[in-house]
Amino acid sequence: MKILVTRKIPGDHIKKLIDAGHEVTVSEFARPLTAEELVNKIKGVDAAITLLTDRVDGDLIDAAGPQLKIISNYAVGFDNVDLKAATDRGVVVTNTPCDEVNVAVAEHTLALLLDVARRVSESDRATREGAYKGWEPDIFLGNNLNGKNLGIIGLGRIGTMVARYGKALGMNIVYNKTSPDPEIEKELAAKFMSLDDLLANSDFISLHVPLTESTRHMINATSISKMKKGAYLINTARGPVVEESALVAALRVGQLAGAALDVFDNEPNLNPELIGLSNVVLTPHIASATWEAREKMGELAIGAILDLIADKKPVNLANPEVWPARRH
Ligand code: DGY
Repeated sequence: MKILVTRKIPGDHIKKLIDAGHEVTVSEFARPLTAEELVNKIKGVDAAITLLTDRVDGDLIDAAGPQLKIISNYAVGFDNVDLKAATDRGVVVTNTPCDEVNVAVAEHTLALLLDVARRVSESDRATREGAYKGWEPDIFLGNNLNGKNLGIIGLGRIGTMVARYGKALGMNIVYNKTSPDPEIEKELAAKFMSLDDLLANSDFISLHVPLTESTRHMINATSISKMKKGAYLINTARGPVVEESALVAALRVGQLAGAALDVFDNEPNLNPELIGLSNVVLTPHIASATWEAREKMGELAIGAILDLIADKKPVNLANPEVWPARRH
């Protein structure tokens, strides 16, 4: 089999493919491929390991040729892949959800939550710039998390872990998802709320929904106006879930006290207005960037291809309906 890996990934799992006799091409670039490079490199391959920075649509799949059988997306999210186009063409799409990623993203969410509430990055910057003149009663006042309401939008695997961490810090957990989750309510005394009630009652809101047409810009001027004045927003999900111009406006007038963002509307381009705000913590889409998570993601991405070669259904099928109609 000919296999394309669109960018070098941590770990040595690729070796398993080479040892099994497959012809593996790993992109030589330490950057995402351009659309043109991707089209050229994917031509003639049977399998591709893609990243969330690669746009995989029907045209790309057609350019690859009829022998392309699997897109193994090295990410939990697969909003970069046109799932319908892949399914219509009998191409299997897989992703890499795992406990290691759940932990990594939940821990990063917690880091952002603490950072923005206690102004860690902001005061670090000021300290380096010489602002520290000695202990003062009123510099860099933040907010305790203990006793506050943590609203989780999207209580899936990662959202649930964030809820557990929040609970451990003494926060009250409220959540919104498609239907209530009695087990989590029992475990964490979490309360299910409608989206509007969650917005109105949360001191901190953390987003854990996938990017779909219904979640795109779900946090916009209208939803922000329903939030508690002085609430905080944390986003480690996908940037386009938040309408950044509305967020900037709310941060400027103090409707929101702060925001911590790991993902952006138009990655890798940052909204310059966000950069100018001191009450915002920005990290470069690194929530899953731990050795443990990236290692496991590699194992799963390669494992999915090896499964497919063995005609075994990969565990993390993003389009399970394709299986009976998959390309051979
Ligand atoms: C994912 O896996 O979807 C993450 O966003 C990558 O960091």
